[in-house]
Amino acid sequence: MNPLASRDLLERLSSEVRECSLCALSQTRKNAVAGEGPISADIMFIGEAPGRREDSVGKPFIGSAGRILDAALSKAGIDRSGVFITNVVKCRPPNNRRPTSQERLACRRHLENQMLILSPKIICILGSTAYHSLLGGKSIIADRGKIVKRYGIRFFLTVHPASVIYNKSLLTDLENDMLSLAAEIRDGRRLDKKTTTKTRHNEKPRKIDSK
Ligand code: URA
Repeated sequence: MNPLASRDLLERLSSEVRECSLCALSQTRKNAVAGEGPISADIMFIGEAPGRREDSVGKPFIGSAGRILDAALSKAGIDRSGVFITNVVKCRPPNNRRPTSQERLACRRHLENQMLILSPKIICILGSTAYHSLLGGKSIIADRGKIVKRYGIRFFLTVHPASVIYNKSLLTDLENDMLSLAAEIRDGRRLDKKTTTKTRHNEKPRKIDSK
């Protein structure tokens, strides 16, 4: 699709999100947080839901979890301004509780539209809520570092940056995973040049060894 048309669609979708009243979270939010990043992003990150700071400002991952994510991205040489960042649920659940399945379902169309319009090379799932919502996964801790191919899309699994606040040992996992993700995008670029699309689509789900 023409990149200008896609940018327009993405902007229109963000306006729809900002006006959305499909679930009760719209009554308690200050700002719906559609997400941010360029239409050309190779990587799309999907977290759980906005927190207090994100709700006040209207941007994703700008509070304490955001600072952890930013540091891990920067250590891996991933430029935050070149990736797209969003959440399963676009409005803050009161007291930062986990979004309910109805709230996730109501928001699903926004996320699916974003995935379609952006069509990134890889989607990085941050934490168990996104893992469960998108892939029906159970344990992000057990599965982190893996690539799963579903619906013709490659998903990379890692822990939620906020989980590092409560369990410091997960910081190394997050950092290693971001290094693997950066390598995957670099290798993908080489593959794009060297091989046919058929080879890439035949790829089997596999574990990246990040240790
Ligand atoms: N946690 C999330 O899952 N998303 C944000 O945007 C901020 C914190």
